[in-house]
Amino acid sequence: MKQLPDKLAKRLEQRLQNNALRKLSVYDPTFDFSSNDYLGLAAAEFNSGNKSQKFQGAGGSRLLTGNHKAYEVLETQICSFHQSQAALVFNSGYAANLGLLGAIGQRRDHIFYDALAHASIRDGLQLSNAKSLKYRHNDLTHLEELLERHKESTGTLYVVTESVFSMDGDSPDLEALVNLSERYGAYLIVDEAHALGVIGERGHGLVQALQMQDRVFARIVTFGKALGYHGAAVLGSEALKTYLVNFARSLIYTTALAQDMVYSLADRYTWLSKSTEALKEIEKLHRNIALLRLYTEKYGVDKHFIASDSAIHSVIIPGNDRVKTLSASLNEAGFGVLPILAPTVPQGVERLRICLHSYNESDSIEGLVERIASFLKD
Ligand SMILES: Cc1ncc(COP(=O)(O)O)c(C=O)c1O
Repeated sequence: MKQLPDKLAKRLEQRLQNNALRKLSVYDPTFDFSSNDYLGLAAAEFNSGNKSQKFQGAGGSRLLTGNHKAYEVLETQICSFHQSQAALVFNSGYAANLGLLGAIGQRRDHIFYDALAHASIRDGLQLSNAKSLKYRHNDLTHLEELLERHKESTGTLYVVTESVFSMDGDSPDLEALVNLSERYGAYLIVDEAHALGVIGERGHGLVQALQMQDRVFARIVTFGKALGYHGAAVLGSEALKTYLVNFARSLIYTTALAQDMVYSLADRYTWLSKSTEALKEIEKLHRNIALLRLYTEKYGVDKHFIASDSAIHSVIIPGNDRVKTLSASLNEAGFGVLPILAPTVPQGVERLRICLHSYNESDSIEGLVERIASFLKD
């Protein structure tokens, strides 16, 4: 077998030296505090019997043989739940961001993005022909300075943010961000990956919770988190959908989802939009979020946590070594909490990222916080 070229081997060696080498491992904890399955749907059975006998797999791209009827059913449902004119389903959130951002940015355009934007947003920006400019995390004054500097540019201005940030669990002041974008004629894009199923009475997301859906250019909702499945959709106008069908390469040049998957997604949206169970699970999740906050105060460690109203709660433990030690000892005690290391986050803000779920129990939340507190006191 040919060995890895030297340059690549050196990159790996560097990771090893920084105690930052990524490894695949089986995740099977007693107490799950890491998955994005906020409402416990990953293990739920969804089968409304909505199947076609003819094709199971898509057999091709949505532009060729893969656009089976299930897509129409799901996209209609998504439009009605999210009060959007149009919806376009992609194979994942990663593919949706790549497709959207790569397709819209043209030469002379500027895309302003939050410093903590997810890797899929950054990778999408790399594929775009627009110039991308980073603003400090949730710092609308900095964003305004950048918008002011480029307001005379002949291209289009775009702003990209997340409604719940995947690493910090916090949110931008979305109302102010919408107003600011409108003042500069900038098109606002909001990734709602961690808000779907979590924020708003039925988990509609932050944009709808604030009734801003008619004032943003595009939203991205992903189905691998609270919906416990796979896939994503870009929400926006019919014209945006048509544009993406023509130019979004991650939609055009890939095999579509199998139709059972798409029907299962439709079943999950029915559950979210209609069932009383959905309301109960969302309520339980928010009870657990409140409990975590209560315990961090009780054990005097709240100042180590990044303030968050979402399901994601990060406790800063600087240094890859330290955070790995704590996570290993928690794992041994059955707590599935994973460390987030540099370079995924900047050095000095390495952290444990705790994801809360509707199915977590009060005792295990308290046990987890108690153990973190005792580590921080040592
Ligand atoms: C903010 C955000 N956007 C997009 C994605 C990608 O979604 P998916 O896992 O469906 O590819 C993630 C995944 O972690 C995310 O956190």
